[in-house]
Amino acid sequence: MTIIDGKAVAEQIKKEIAEEVKQIIAAGGKRPHLAAILVGHDGGSETYVAAKVKACEVCGFKSTLVRFEDTVSEQELLDKVRELNEDDDVDGFIVQLPLPKHISEDKVIEAIDYRKDVDGFHPINVGRMSIGLPCYISATPNGIIELISRYNIETRGKKCVILGRSNIVGKPMAALMMRKAYPGDCTVTVCHSRTKDIADECRRADIIIAALGSPEFVTADMVKDGAVIIDVGTTRVPSTLTKSGFKLKGDVKFDEVAPKCSYITPVPGGVGPMTIVSLMRNTLLAGKKEIYKD
Ligand code: GUN
Repeated sequence: MTIIDGKAVAEQIKKEIAEEVKQIIAAGGKRPHLAAILVGHDGGSETYVAAKVKACEVCGFKSTLVRFEDTVSEQELLDKVRELNEDDDVDGFIVQLPLPKHISEDKVIEAIDYRKDVDGFHPINVGRMSIGLPCYISATPNGIIELISRYNIETRGKKCVILGRSNIVGKPMAALMMRKAYPGDCTVTVCHSRTKDIADECRRADIIIAALGSPEFVTADMVKDGAVIIDVGTTRVPSTLTKSGFKLKGDVKFDEVAPKCSYITPVPGGVGPMTIVSLMRNTLLAGKKEIYKD
């Protein structure tokens, strides 16, 4: 059994990106520039955005943080999005979610120029991904694909069960795992709250990607010997053992499932560290105008 070390892979990729940026600069090229819009002071969002800014620094990117109070109007936010769309120095940008209730997230995402949508949330990027055209792939699915490929995990002809049908993980993951490429070429089953016998579906899976947000949902009796387990769950549960007062729990009962697996991602330290690195990879692609030439 191999525990997939997402933290180590993420560190390695950041080094590779920093090296490439050095070469770009040495050749007289432009330093990639990521901008992030943060609305309000939600604790989780503050932490994520601070980590994104820090990762930009490590990769040698320029970063700009644009802050608004949570009283900002939808129009003001849309105006800022349009300004960043037109700013030639900004290669890519993100609007950190969630947004306050009076602002339509869909409207804001659709206002982003898809050529700068390094989050991969714009319907054009989502649509292009689903039909296999070059596009920005969103952070979590992109990170999972990268882990599978860096560990040379066989996917061709395998049965992949995805738990969860969310727009940000389950659906894109299904599209990627069934595509005609590596990693991919799987027979994919997507399970959700209305699925009749999830345990039975899981038992037949060579690869399980658990993205339900339901702590320790996947137990040993649901897993076939030698299966590959990718745990996307990150539920905060109270804990007296940590300084923060909580710890992260995955969707998989790690201690009992791990001994049965060929590969498994831990929580924390598996998929999580890969998500910010995916954003960095998309920003590098944006800087190089590699996906959309103009
Ligand atoms: N909120 C939680 N995850 C994300 C993400 O990947 N991108 C953005 N923009 N907001 C988020």
